[in-house]
Amino acid sequence: MGDRNYKQVSHYLLKEELGNGTFGTVYRGKDLNTNEIRAIKMISAQNVLKPQEKKALSREIQIMRNLDHENIVKLYDYLETRNYNYLVLEYCSGGDLSGLRDLSEEHTIIYLRQIVSALKVLQANNIIHRDLKPANILLSDKSPDAKIKLADFGLARQISANSLAKSYVGTPLYMAPEVIKLRENQSERYTERADIWSVGCIVYELIRGARPFEAKNFGDLLPVIKTRLNDPDFLSSQYFSEPCIDFLSKIFKINPKERMDFETMCDHPFILGRPSIKPIIDLHGIQCMSEDFELSTKEDALDISEVLFNLAKDTPHPFLFYMKACTLLEPYLEDQVCASIFKVNFDEAKRCKNKTDWESSTMTRLILEMAVKLCRSDENIASHLLKENYRQALTLLNSLGPSSHIIRLKEAIKRQMDMHN
Ligand code: ADE
Repeated sequence: MGDRNYKQVSHYLLKEELGNGTFGTVYRGKDLNTNEIRAIKMISAQNVLKPQEKKALSREIQIMRNLDHENIVKLYDYLETRNYNYLVLEYCSGGDLSGLRDLSEEHTIIYLRQIVSALKVLQANNIIHRDLKPANILLSDKSPDAKIKLADFGLARQISANSLAKSYVGTPLYMAPEVIKLRENQSERYTERADIWSVGCIVYELIRGARPFEAKNFGDLLPVIKTRLNDPDFLSSQYFSEPCIDFLSKIFKINPKERMDFETMCDHPFILGRPSIKPIIDLHGIQCMSEDFELSTKEDALDISEVLFNLAKDTPHPFLFYMKACTLLEPYLEDQVCASIFKVNFDEAKRCKNKTDWESSTMTRLILEMAVKLCRSDENIASHLLKENYRQALTLLNSLGPSSHIIRLKEAIKRQMDMHN
C-alpha cells in the first residue's frame, strides 16, 4: 500500500495500529521530514476534555519531554488538532515484556538493571511511574540484546519530595498494597516504594512464568496478596535462586516502610551479581574500561592494589584508585584474600563513587603523576623512605601497559634506586 493511503498529520504519516495505551491508540508512523519511524499515540480530544484526563495528559507530556534516557521512550513531538492530540514517540519494534515467560534469571537481571536505571531517572525527577507492568515495558528491537524502554507515563505524576502522591491509578495486579488501600479509601499515601512492588511482580513473572498475585476483581486482590505471602511455597527455591528469593522477599512487604527502599534495591546482590566491577561502572554511567588493566599474576594484583589503597586517600580522585584496585583483583576472586581486599576497595569506591569522573585515561594520568611525585621527594628524606617511595612508584607503573615511555620511566627509577644502594 502506498503512503498516500495513510492518514497524515502535519509532517507525520500514521500507518498501521500497534495497540492501545493509556487514553489512546498507538500507530506506527513516519516523520516525513526525516523518514524516521515513530510510534504515534493518537488521543481523542473528546476524551481529553474531561478535566482529570486533560491534566493527566499534560502531565505525561511535561514529564516525557524533560526525560532523556536510553531506557525511557523518548517523546519527540506533540501536536494538537481539533479532534485529536498526538504524541510522537520513539518507536520500539521489539514488542513489550508481557509476552515473555520463563526467562533465565541472568536474562531477567539484564532487563531488571535497565528498568532500575530508568527508574533512577524518574526518582531523580520525583516521579512515581505508578503503572509499571510488563505491557508498558517495551523492547527497542527484536535482537537478543534489545534495550528496555519504559513507556506510558500517562499515569505518572511529578510529586514534590514532601507532598506524597495522593491520587490513585494503575493496573491492579501489579499494584502495591498501599495503592490498593488508597483506592479503597483508606487514608494511606504512597511513595516510590509502590513502583518497587511492581518491579517485584515483574521480576517474579518473568522468571516464574506466572503472575505472583492473581485476582478476579479488585476487592479480592489484597486478601490474595496476604494469602500468597503466607504460603511457604510462594518463593520456592524450585524456581528462584537464593539471591532472587532474598530480593523478592524484601520487596513483597505489605507495609511500604518495611519494603526495601530504592537505594537498597540498587545495591542488592541479586542486581549486582557476583562481586564485579561492572555494576559500579554501570551505576556510574561509563561503558568501557582501559585496555591496560590486564595483569599477569595474583601477587602483582595484591601488591599493586595495596599501594593503590594506601595512596587513594591522598588523591582528589580516590574512586579511581579503589576501582583500579578492583579491576586488578577481579580475575582472582576465587582466592579468599583477593576477594576480601576486592570487597574493601569496592565498598570504598561505592562510598565515593559520585565524587569523581571514571575515565581510564584519567586513571593512567593520575598513576603517572603519583609515581613521579613519589620519586620527587625532597632531599632531606631518609634513604630507606626514598627507596620505599621508588618501590611504590614502580609497583604503580607495573599496573600500566608496557608503553615505551613507561618502560623508560621504570628504568630511570631503577637507576635511581641503584644509586641509593
Ligand atoms: N506501543 C506503545 N508505544 C509504543 C512504542 N513507543 N513503540 C512501539 N509500540 C508501541
